[in-house]
Amino acid sequence: MSSLTTLMSEPAVTAAPSEPLTSLVARMHAHHVGSVVVTVDGRPVGIVTERDVLRCAAAAAPGASLTTDLAVDVMSSPVDAVTVRDEPRAVLGMMRERGYRHVPVLDEAGHVQGVVSLRDLARVAEVGPPDVPRGLKGVVVADTEVGDVRGAEGFYHYREHSAIDLARERPLEDVWRLLVDGALPSTAAERDTFRDEVAPLAALPEVLRPLLPAIAGSSVPLDGLRSALSIVAAAEGMRPTIDLDPAGRRADALRLAAVTPTILAALWRLRTGHQPVDPDPGLGWAANYVTMLTGTTPPPAHVRAIEQYLVTTVDHGFNASTFTARVVTSTGADVGAAIVAAIGALGGPLHGGAPSRALALLDEIREAGGDERAIDAVIRPRIVAGERIMGFGHAVYRTDDPRSLLLRDVARLLGGPVVDLALATERRVVELLEELKPGRELRTNVEFYAGVVMDACGIPRDMFTPTFASSRVIGWSANVLEQAAANKIIRPSARYVGPPPPQPVPPLTGSGT
Ligand SMILES: CC(C)(COP(=O)(O)OP(=O)(O)OC[C@H]1O[C@@H](n2cnc3c(N)ncnc32)[C@H](O)[C@@H]1OP(=O)(O)O)[C@@H](O)C(=O)NCCC(=O)NCCS
Repeated sequence: MSSLTTLMSEPAVTAAPSEPLTSLVARMHAHHVGSVVVTVDGRPVGIVTERDVLRCAAAAAPGASLTTDLAVDVMSSPVDAVTVRDEPRAVLGMMRERGYRHVPVLDEAGHVQGVVSLRDLARVAEVGPPDVPRGLKGVVVADTEVGDVRGAEGFYHYREHSAIDLARERPLEDVWRLLVDGALPSTAAERDTFRDEVAPLAALPEVLRPLLPAIAGSSVPLDGLRSALSIVAAAEGMRPTIDLDPAGRRADALRLAAVTPTILAALWRLRTGHQPVDPDPGLGWAANYVTMLTGTTPPPAHVRAIEQYLVTTVDHGFNASTFTARVVTSTGADVGAAIVAAIGALGGPLHGGAPSRALALLDEIREAGGDERAIDAVIRPRIVAGERIMGFGHAVYRTDDPRSLLLRDVARLLGGPVVDLALATERRVVELLEELKPGRELRTNVEFYAGVVMDACGIPRDMFTPTFASSRVIGWSANVLEQAAANKIIRPSARYVGPPPPQPVPPLTGSGT
């Protein structure tokens, strides 16, 4: 909300107590105001409003004029005044409570500086920003055709195709094409055309190669990815989205999404003392990623499991990182800036950083004995202490997370002791949450089985969230392109709740400069 000084009429229309009422009426007309402040030496002693004038006229004998009435006879006195430092919402509340339509506004010295009317304040209050729930929960902030999450139904889709069906039936490149170009390939030739277009884009730019060891040595891969993608975007001259046509924006988005897995794998290998493995244009996305990461040819079952995981994580509604990408795009910044910002948002444990934590929980349970008693011993005190159990609960789903159901199937197919422990843990934790947090409908989210599946496929734990990022960059790309195509800068408001400004700048005490 604005300050009082921007809302009030200034200078105030004033009169002396001895002036005839007719002069005040003429002054109100001349200045188009509804009140005159009666002052002595610049300080308010009363106020005469249109309402006072009407009341006076109604009380006068028929045909009598107002010339004999003086301001002092008619004015409301004493007068309540406010100061320029008062908060408009508080002033509005006071005026409504006391039935005032006009209030003099005093400067710091107590002289009348202006007058604020109920209408001025009410108008600002009405058009002022509406209050929204904390965290914008449930607030619609954009129209999108990229996809949608239906929390109550336990369903989400990419451009009207169930994401889970896509994960079961299509390779990642088909879904990438769907997200960025708007349609799945409908023929093998269309699929090949897209694959042939994106395969060479996975190569590391030469300018980045000599810089990667330093990046890998100084940061974890997800943080390193931010640095590396910034370099790619700058080195390849990516221009503000606002200056590009759709083809230019698409080209930048494809390049960044294609090179992301290569960068991540290279950062990981350098960090662990190995040489990066270049992408093989003959391999599909998932096979390439696992090969570049591990340096060995993965079994097809692992490739397919990872690919299914990657397809399920391409996009998921207006989550924090997607919103971030759109906010940055809305400023007209380049695609690289939007993707890098989104990676920053994804890094937080409440968004993308939980799968390794969920697995750490399974470790703890295994070390405690691995049976139901161990699960209880590890989980119950945490819930009682108000902690959140990693891999459970979701901001949108109030039923099973469909990604978790698919990944549970994938995990079952892969098998192994960790999978068995995860299945038992899921069952028991859901029971404990139901007992200790009744009615919250807390089930496993995508992160719980994601960690289990990636672990079973040999993806190192430190690469869980980066692997999530490697496919989510496709969803961000689609959102960036959609935002840029029909842009409006995203610029919400905050309500200031600190001490009333302006506070004097305190003098510096003590010696030194
Ligand atoms: C994902 C998450 C942030 C969603 O949070 P949210 O929508 O704000 O959830 P809510 O605050 O509405 O939760 C409602 C209640 O369930 C509880 N709750 C939610 N997730 C919980 C969890 N994982 N473990 C224990 N309690 C949980 C909350 O404490 C809250 O309890 P209260 O009503 O007594 O205050 C939250 O479930 C969480 O922190 N999960 C663990 C982290 C995780 O797995 N992240 C990956 C998400 S894909």
